[in-house]
Amino acid sequence: MHPLQCVLRMQRCQRWGPLASVSWVLLRTCRAHSGLPSTACSSPERQQEDGVWKDFSSRLATGPTFQHFLRNASVPQEKPSSEVDDPPPYLTVDELSGRQRKVYLETYGCQMNVNDTEIAWSILQKSGYLRTSNLQEADVILLVTCSIREKAEQTIWNRLQQLKVLKSKRLRSRVPLKIGILGCMAERLKEEILNREKMVDILAGPDAYRDLPRLLAVAKSGQQAANVLLSLDETYADVMPVQMSPSATSAFVSIMRGCDNMCSYCIVPFTRGRERSRPVASILEEVRKLSEQGLKEVTLLGQNVNSFRDTSEVQFNNAVSTNLSRGFSSNYKTKQGGLRFAHLLDQVSRIDPEMRIRFTSPHPKDFPDEVLQLIHERDNICKQIHLPAQSGSSRVLEAMRRGYSREAYVELVHHIRESIPGVSLSSDFIAGFCGETEEDHFQTVSLLQEVQYNMGFLFAYSMRQKTRAYHRLKDDIPEEVKLRRLEELITVFREEATKANKAFVGCTQLVLVEGLSKRSATDLCGRNDGNLKVIFPDAEMEDVTNSGLRVRAQPGDYVLVKVIGRFCYL
Ligand code: 5AD
Ligand code: SF4
Repeated sequence: MHPLQCVLRMQRCQRWGPLASVSWVLLRTCRAHSGLPSTACSSPERQQEDGVWKDFSSRLATGPTFQHFLRNASVPQEKPSSEVDDPPPYLTVDELSGRQRKVYLETYGCQMNVNDTEIAWSILQKSGYLRTSNLQEADVILLVTCSIREKAEQTIWNRLQQLKVLKSKRLRSRVPLKIGILGCMAERLKEEILNREKMVDILAGPDAYRDLPRLLAVAKSGQQAANVLLSLDETYADVMPVQMSPSATSAFVSIMRGCDNMCSYCIVPFTRGRERSRPVASILEEVRKLSEQGLKEVTLLGQNVNSFRDTSEVQFNNAVSTNLSRGFSSNYKTKQGGLRFAHLLDQVSRIDPEMRIRFTSPHPKDFPDEVLQLIHERDNICKQIHLPAQSGSSRVLEAMRRGYSREAYVELVHHIRESIPGVSLSSDFIAGFCGETEEDHFQTVSLLQEVQYNMGFLFAYSMRQKTRAYHRLKDDIPEEVKLRRLEELITVFREEATKANKAFVGCTQLVLVEGLSKRSATDLCGRNDGNLKVIFPDAEMEDVTNSGLRVRAQPGDYVLVKVIGRFCYL
């Protein structure tokens, strides 16, 4: 899992941008158009409820049956959306209903969590809940959490202290406030959260969001409720996520969940479970809907997007197998058959030639030539690849169980650059992993210099229980050394990204407008094909699809922008 460039991750990494510009031309696109070039350079009342809930509580005492748990353990992969779930035997449909109680959702961590929040909301909305963005008026507060590093969990514990105050101050005349922990932290810590923070009412792991209405119904009776079962096949294929922002130009589409890689430092395989892919047909249906809604960009999401393998139909098992990247190996037995990432990417990119396609986060092992070729050939597949290296030392990479050496990684970088001229590269790095020597650290510094990434996400190693590194390796690098090395990596990354991004100055870039710049009311902000922010004046420009017409660019328009300079921010 290498979630996209989320806010939390920004705190410990550097990003370069935005690109400043002077000249621009609007490309307000029309549906009949064919593909666009990526760049022009080259590149609530209560009384009534009391009665109902007393009755409910007595029925609840008899509890769910064994059969009920069996049923929950095998959620079918794809269920027609018209099909309504039978309520559990101890709850009526009415008791399961949200009855317009207001839910406040707060997301932490990666882009997968942003998508999970939309899935959770989609399920709750269908169950009769309302959404609020005002914490004070919320009847239910749900935190979608992250466990990847200690700091991410500490943020949630701190937030729970604030929510405790809010809950204790709740007027008795109002419906009692319920608080839930969703996602990775619920999965990793389970009842430890319920024991430590008695104010937490529900826990739902990443594969248990369908169970949210039941968990909240149980919580309403005053009991704590949890479902942290991991599934082998849950992909929420039939749950259409509800876009948070109706004015958004881009959306995230989850294509697979979980991870089988078991990198020695990583908690994700334990919190998000086994790798499973969503059926191609349901992904295409979602992308088509998004295109019809006028969205201009989709990012295919997954812990290892390019390891995608749709095995939902037997005939897919005869699909031609694809190779790993040269010099790369996997930590699991070779999987056979299924529709692979190249097939999906091809199909998705054909839906709407004016819709940009991105994907994150991939694993470097799964970049066969057909994927690279496709990225090169299709105008609407962005020439941007996240290639998480984690370390520049082959010795550390082996301890991390990444399945490649520094040399194989560098060779892949060259191969990608040859196959996709002008490609933007980004990476993740961990400083101070178990046993990392100064020489190993230097190797990482030199990899940053050698590759010259356009964007980077750098972290200090945070030891996580359950992982292989926790059990077998010693977290022997003092905290101050980890931080010093991290700072050094950040400095070098910055220098190299400066050089790499200078290449855009003087070039005309195709920018997808997102809206007003946060820094200035007179500027607009958008992203180029390589996902770099571009800031440019909000002024009239020529509409090339309507010759002679002078217009102002709107979110969702493509604009050709000539880059005149760049500056950095933290
Ligand atoms: N400590 C620090 N960073 C980590 N990552 C994953 N696990 C850890 C950990 N235990 C980083 C990796 C991964 C990114 C999403 O988070 O760089 O690619
Ligand atoms: Fe990514 Fe490795 Fe963690 Fe899987 S185990 S999510 S591949 S870092």
